[in-house]
Amino acid sequence: MRLFVGLPIPLEVARALVRLAASIELPKGRRVQAEDIHLTLMFLGEAEESVLPLIERELATLKAPSLKLRLTGMGTFPRAGVLFADVEPSRALLQLQTKVAEGMARCGFVPEERAYRPHLTLARFRGRLRLNEAKRILPPYLQKRFDVSAIYLYRSRPERTGPRYEVLAYMDLAKIPERET
Ligand code: 2AM
Repeated sequence: MRLFVGLPIPLEVARALVRLAASIELPKGRRVQAEDIHLTLMFLGEAEESVLPLIERELATLKAPSLKLRLTGMGTFPRAGVLFADVEPSRALLQLQTKVAEGMARCGFVPEERAYRPHLTLARFRGRLRLNEAKRILPPYLQKRFDVSAIYLYRSRPERTGPRYEVLAYMDLAKIPERET
């Protein structure tokens, strides 16, 4: 099964992103539904079902505070055909990502060589698209920081309409007040 560890995005934020993405004309492709919008912390790839308890144990012992996320703008990965919202790589987020990667390494998952680039994928399309400056800027209501208080272990299932994500396990983050970053 194809697995990844990520953070859920509040539905009202995800819905606002879907509405914003709908205002951007894209080449042929698929838009992500609000319920599926997430922030990937680590893509694990194909794994045997027998590894699940190990992953869940690692996530359960991970001591990390809840955090706030802030979106900083919209963008596209020109080669991959991805429309996304950029997430501020705050210290809290990078520390959490490192902890998850260390925990998953103990389960045998090799960390990516590429630097972590936090983003929320909103659409995948064929071809290229460059957003103009105006389209890169988020409206004020999407610039507000929002809370994330749990980590999810997701399973990605390919479907005719694109990948759908199923939550296999979740772990609450500690309610420690986070310093403003
Ligand atoms: P993406 O949104 O930029 O495609 C499930 O596929 C999640 O894992 C997605 O958020 C996806 O990022 C991310 N991911 C990271 N590396 C991946 C890879 N090599 N293959 C598929 N998904 C990957």
